Amino acid sequence: MKKFPLKLDKSLQFRKEQKAFRELSGQKNLVDFSSNDYLGLAKNNQIFENAHRILVENDILKNGGTGSRLLSGNHALYGLAEEKLKYFFNSEAALIYNSGYDANLGFFSSVPQRNDIVFYDELSHASIRDGINLGKAKAYKFFHNDHEDLEQKIIRIKKTSIDAIIYIVTEAVFSMDGDMPDLRQLAEISEKYGCFLVVDEAHSVGVIGETGKGLVEELGVSDHVFARLVTFGKALGAHGAAILGSRKLKDYLINFSRSLIYTTSLPPHSVATILAAIQFLETDGVLEILKLQNNIQHFNSELEKRDLEPLFIKGNSAIYSCVVPGNEKVKQVAFNLQLEGFDVKPILSPTVPEGKERLRFCLHSFNSEEELNSTLTVLKKEILS
Ligand SMILES: Cc1ncc(COP(=O)(O)O)c(C=O)c1O
Repeated sequence: MKKFPLKLDKSLQFRKEQKAFRELSGQKNLVDFSSNDYLGLAKNNQIFENAHRILVENDILKNGGTGSRLLSGNHALYGLAEEKLKYFFNSEAALIYNSGYDANLGFFSSVPQRNDIVFYDELSHASIRDGINLGKAKAYKFFHNDHEDLEQKIIRIKKTSIDAIIYIVTEAVFSMDGDMPDLRQLAEISEKYGCFLVVDEAHSVGVIGETGKGLVEELGVSDHVFARLVTFGKALGAHGAAILGSRKLKDYLINFSRSLIYTTSLPPHSVATILAAIQFLETDGVLEILKLQNNIQHFNSELEKRDLEPLFIKGNSAIYSCVVPGNEKVKQVAFNLQLEGFDVKPILSPTVPEGKERLRFCLHSFNSEEELNSTLTVLKKEILS
């Protein structure tokens, strides 16, 4: 085998010294506090059976996508699924991508143009930042959920970049902190300065709203939003993502978004699963969402009862982060929680800033109150020891 380049080896060594070396681990049979399968739909039998039925009813007996969506890969289920998504999420159009990562990459690398400006929340997901980096627009962070900071920055930039189109980017639920922006206020700022607001709903779909339509729909601000990203690999338990927006935006992305054009389409089975999962949300999913929302409330009240609130980042979503500074320390606490049977993952720097290393608790509809209580009992013991 060819020798591994020395500078890459040094990077690996550095990661080890920082106690931040990443490894792929096998799955253990622990209580799930780490997956994004918030509603347990990844293992839902009804969705599994319905996806199969959809394939058979549509006479699609194919295992693979066979080509790009622009060539041979645009099988009939895409049209059905995009129509369904359009109505479910109350959007003029929907365009399915292979994943949320691909969708953000494809959107941010093609929509903002040279001389345009992108303002993005400093805690935006890597896929948003990678997309922006591939594009030609100038990009600036604003402090996390600090819309005053954003407004000041817009005012400043408008003095010098008169013709620039300005995009504002946020997440409905932040993936590492689990908190939410004041989206109504952001929509107001966006309108006031003629900006284009983009909202990543990866962690709010299936979690927020009676049928899990996400934060934009829940607050009724869709008329002020230029584009939404919804993903199917999290609460929907499937795979893939869609950009929701106008028909023209969809046409634009089909023509210019390289992560849509230059890749093999999703296999029909994945698109059938998306359809079946959306159908489930509209029906029996309501009960699962209610169970999840009850668990979120219960977890919140237990944090308060146990005086653990100050350790946690304030939020009201399925993601709760308990800050335990230091890679070594947070790994140790997570390891001890896992020994007690709870799958809680440590999030290390550099994924989060140094000093903000944390345990990330993902709550689910299927977690029992007993599981929620006992993991907090172990956590408190570990933190105090
Ligand atoms: C906020 C956010 N956006 C986008 C993505 C990417 O979605 P996907 O997992 O479908 O690639 C993620 C995934 O972790 C995310 O947390």
